[in-house]
Amino acid sequence: MSTTFQLDTATSRANPTPAPMKRLTIPAIRQRKKDGVTEEPVVMLTAYTARQAQLLDAHCDLLLVGDSLGQVIYGLPSSVPVTLDMMAAHGAAVVRGSYHAAVVVDMPFGSYEASPEQAFTNASRLLKDTGCAAVKLEGGEAMAQTVTFLSQRGIPVMGHIGLTPQAVNVLGGYNARGRSEAEAAKIVGDARALADAGAFAIVIEGVVEPIAIEITRAVACPTIGIGASAQCDGQVLVTEDMLGMFERVPRFVKIYENIAGVISGAAAQYAEEVRARTFPGIEQTYQPRSPK
Ligand code: KIV
Repeated sequence: MSTTFQLDTATSRANPTPAPMKRLTIPAIRQRKKDGVTEEPVVMLTAYTARQAQLLDAHCDLLLVGDSLGQVIYGLPSSVPVTLDMMAAHGAAVVRGSYHAAVVVDMPFGSYEASPEQAFTNASRLLKDTGCAAVKLEGGEAMAQTVTFLSQRGIPVMGHIGLTPQAVNVLGGYNARGRSEAEAAKIVGDARALADAGAFAIVIEGVVEPIAIEITRAVACPTIGIGASAQCDGQVLVTEDMLGMFERVPRFVKIYENIAGVISGAAAQYAEEVRARTFPGIEQTYQPRSPK
């Protein structure tokens, strides 16, 4: 009898989805919007780990490895300290855990703003190290030249305008943008500049609804709203927010589950059983599991 240990890939934690599907492409996402109309809205959620990606993949068109992982995973006060190494590690995990959705990785603060060349060096590293299909960067008109530079050199770019969290130190907080006429005009101008520069889609975060609608009508590429408008061509949420992992979430977030409650309830029950020495042995608990 062979003593070689064989990994059962049908049930292993590393790879519980053995049947790869054909992945969506960035041009397919871009072409969802035709002549200003998006019949099938673009579904995007954030993912930071392989297992999370496995669970979200079949339901999403795009998985975003957002730099919100700074707060969500690392407990940082903002996304400003997030590094390229963090994005590369989590991006690779999400690509490994997905077969269907196109994966977009955020370029962290400081990795692209200095010049188009700096952006190309770091974005190409993200594509090589992770296998992702595209990058996302924050900023409007000021980033247009960089968007063109990357797109013309094989790197699809998703824009991100309105409330841009990496600029928290300039904005002074995370409040909705576009309340003054001047600011609204600036955000609409930013969207047009990114679309003209070749962005394949644009995230519109935290802007008053009429502006999100105006932008969605004005630009040829899909808009993806977060705290913007249901009229955008798609939506994104931070997965942990909509799963109820945190007590405090932005006001616009719909909470679909109370996962924090489930986790702390399970931990409390486990702790009670360990302390009471009623924690069951392997004879009582072992049962082969089928993958979800
Ligand atoms: O970092 C992130 O998760 C994002 C989304 C909120 C759009 O940029």
